[in-house]
Amino acid sequence: MTSKVYFHKKLHEWYRNEGRKDLPWRNTNDAYAIYLSEVMLQQTQVKTVQERYYFQFLKRFPTLDALAKAKEQDVLSAWQGLGYYSRARNLHKAAKSCKGNLPRSIEELTTLPGIGRNTAHAIAAFAYHDPAAVMEANVKRVLSRIFALKSPTTEELWEKAGTLLDSKEPFDYNQAMMDIGAMVCTKRAPKCNQCPAETICEGKINPEAYPERTAKKAVPVRNKVIVVKQNQRGEYFATPRTSKFLSGLYHFEEHDAPYSPQKSRMLGHIRQQYSHFTLEADVYLLQTAKSSGKGWYSLKQLKKLPVSIAEKKILEMLS
Ligand code: ADE
Repeated sequence: MTSKVYFHKKLHEWYRNEGRKDLPWRNTNDAYAIYLSEVMLQQTQVKTVQERYYFQFLKRFPTLDALAKAKEQDVLSAWQGLGYYSRARNLHKAAKSCKGNLPRSIEELTTLPGIGRNTAHAIAAFAYHDPAAVMEANVKRVLSRIFALKSPTTEELWEKAGTLLDSKEPFDYNQAMMDIGAMVCTKRAPKCNQCPAETICEGKINPEAYPERTAKKAVPVRNKVIVVKQNQRGEYFATPRTSKFLSGLYHFEEHDAPYSPQKSRMLGHIRQQYSHFTLEADVYLLQTAKSSGKGWYSLKQLKKLPVSIAEKKILEMLS
């Protein structure tokens, strides 16, 4: 038995005994549901997706077709709190462009908005049992350690991922590799003595050296003043963002600090970490007599509109 075949045997054994086989997206062959789970799981923890988003989204949009027919605002609402809203917008765009059925090949899948090589491989391996290797963040670490790679390029990792793949059992193999990364080959204090890759792992003497840690880039702070206008009917003024970032999500009037709003009352301060900046904002309530035109919502209505997590905090201040 070659060392690779032996590794596959050990990996499958480990997965049968220890793997997270009950995750809901591992118990369906609906390509749409698998695709959805893969998009949700980018940048978001399994527990959050499983407990708060996956089933809820599928209940609201049970098929690709239902998603294609939905309004973007409703898709963003179902995504609310997951962050990285371009994922939801791309999912919606992709649904609209594929007319009810996801394409069958990796090549066609990668032409859809938001579907990169990893997502396409995951759909192919999990929905169609095609021999494609998955390579999300955990698997990158596992591969870097197995092959003792300090700072591998993405291409190098894809090459290793393809070499190591068990092309006869791509479903279990890929799920197991992700589980090894999440449960055994953890960032800190990996449990090498429990790892089915121990016999082939070139990095096991000092696993934490692979991949080499890179210093995290400091993100800038954006200081803002948010002014929530309230009319005499008790409604608040909000508009959907037209910027690329958080596009379509509703927000209140925003100014760069320093800014002194007139005749207003301070409600509090919010701090919100986004991927590329930290928002620090003082929040004010401004009572106004002007209330004509569009954009005025009761608190109840606002709570149903898609907003990002910072606005969610403001809605709590208003409650
Ligand atoms: N992250 C991405 N895909 C996953 C899957 N199928 N199971 C667990 N975590 C994942």
